[in-house]
Amino acid sequence: MTGLLTGCRCYRRRNRRTQGCRHRSAKSRTQGSRFSLRLVKLINLDHVAVAVHDLDASLDDYRSRYRVEPLYREVVEAQGVEEAMIPVGGSFVQLLQPLGADTPVGRFIESKGEGLHHIAFAVASIDIALEHLRAEGAKLVDEAARPGGRGTRIAFVHPADLTGTLIELVELPG
Ligand code: CO
Repeated sequence: MTGLLTGCRCYRRRNRRTQGCRHRSAKSRTQGSRFSLRLVKLINLDHVAVAVHDLDASLDDYRSRYRVEPLYREVVEAQGVEEAMIPVGGSFVQLLQPLGADTPVGRFIESKGEGLHHIAFAVASIDIALEHLRAEGAKLVDEAARPGGRGTRIAFVHPADLTGTLIELVELPG
């Protein structure tokens, strides 16, 4: 749909060969959408996740190099990991040790070695965020939210969907 069809006045000011205008997406995805911007917008960088072989050794390294301590540490069976969350400002570094070789993080380390695994953003409602992403045609790893650490509900968006980055959405408890 072009700016002409949507009646947007910027169509005449912009290059007629371009498809529509910047106002089209803003209009169709907010005012014209059934999704509230407040519920689908990313509200915080919750954590940056790093896959590691040995959680204890990595925590020792973070402790000695950067003088930081984990706030949470738990086994998350649903994701096949033991994770530690190190608070940094308003976000966390999440260290992930796979529970076995045949887990997503185990396979990641097998093929790529230790390193940056995903980034996680907080959203107000993960159910609405997923519904919105489906409507946008996003490539989802998880069709529905599942349990994460700290009592969160999480879902992953495929790295092929946006900038080659595995993105996790997080809804914090209560
Ligand atoms: Co994560």
